[in-house]
Amino acid sequence: MTSERLRLRVADVIRETGDAHSIVFDIPAGLTYQPGQFLTLRLPHADGPVARCYSLSSAPGVDEQLKVTVKRVKDGRGSNWVCDTVLVGHEIDVLAPSGTFTPKSLDADLLLLAGGSGITPVMSIIKSALARGTGRMLLVYANRDEQSVIFHADLRALVAAHPDRLIVLHWLETVQGLPSLKPLQELVRPWAHAEAFICGPAPFMDCAAEALKSLGILRDRIHVERFTSLAGDPWTEVEVAAPVAGERTVDLVVELDGDTHELDWPESSKLLDLLLGKGLDAPYSCREGACSACGVILVEGEVVMENNSVLEKEDLDEGWRLACQSRPVSDVVKVRYS
Ligand SMILES: Cc1cc2nc3c(=O)[nH]c(=O)nc-3n(C[C@H](O)[C@H](O)[C@H](O)COP(=O)(O)OP(=O)(O)OC[C@H]3O[C@@H](n4cnc5c(N)ncnc54)[C@H](O)[C@@H]3O)c2cc1C
Ligand code: FES
Repeated sequence: MTSERLRLRVADVIRETGDAHSIVFDIPAGLTYQPGQFLTLRLPHADGPVARCYSLSSAPGVDEQLKVTVKRVKDGRGSNWVCDTVLVGHEIDVLAPSGTFTPKSLDADLLLLAGGSGITPVMSIIKSALARGTGRMLLVYANRDEQSVIFHADLRALVAAHPDRLIVLHWLETVQGLPSLKPLQELVRPWAHAEAFICGPAPFMDCAAEALKSLGILRDRIHVERFTSLAGDPWTEVEVAAPVAGERTVDLVVELDGDTHELDWPESSKLLDLLLGKGLDAPYSCREGACSACGVILVEGEVVMENNSVLEKEDLDEGWRLACQSRPVSDVVKVRYS
């Protein structure tokens, strides 16, 4: 994960379906990413630029270029601009790949549950695992109808090339109705041992997560990626307010990139702002509690988060906190970037 800013040249635009376009970028030298990560694009809009995250549907080490796949959202500011406007040769400002929706091992069996444009990070994971791993995969892929299935032909080709490693089950609303708990449970039951990845519209994700939990799949083996729009502009400079005279500071210990840092943490500062202000290369993307790119493990002490749209109770119980939203509560705080 990194907060590096890049300007990428559009090398190709692919019309995937009636309302989804892929934008292909040349990869800048030295850029690396993990399957399942996303780019944050800065897109123009009449009321001022908007920042939008788009998962990479390309796979590192497999595809020679970066690819994001954008599906139109009715009246959406960013997605329609991308689908209507972007042409080969355009340059777009992005934040470098980020995110934690990525398998720990490409050799593990993977259970993949995708709805609509939620296929994008899943496609990257599938291609990476088939090329570089050994595990087997089941993809359950829900769509409104056959015409709205993104990567239909690509998936068919992957299944044909790896029939013993990849199973794809399409769920079409026009044929089977909306995905519901009981049939989903039956589909995924034989895969209760696998590491699970869920991405799609909120009702689909809730139903899929419920099906997995009811089969006893532990929460730490269920990964979810929620597609939300950012409200702020992560390109604005981070301003770290100077400590107010007499302000309480707490003792902070941070493990980051193999180094341990001891800092005084003013109680009015957010953890990420403090670290960036001290020149540390702490990861972030949205800076508004919506993406989890800044996630840290709280090892000791207590913090309070101003906003949290991504961490669930189970994540909090495991110690995860969002550095961009955390202010200190206890006199000593220790955190670790994993
Ligand atoms: C980690 C991550 C990965 C993602 N990956 C993908 C991906 O691979 N592919 C993909 O297509 N999407 C992805 N998304 C979602 C994407 O970032 C955007 O949220 C999506 O494209 C919609 O953005 P928009 O600007 O088009 O819509 P918005 O302008 O954000 O509008 C969203 C909704 O709000 C309404 N709205 C518009 N303007 C306003 C306003 N001023 N006030 C109130 N409501 C308004 C619109 O009618 C619309 O229904 C991802 C999101 C995240 C966080
Ligand atoms: S940077 Fe996105 S949640 Fe903190």
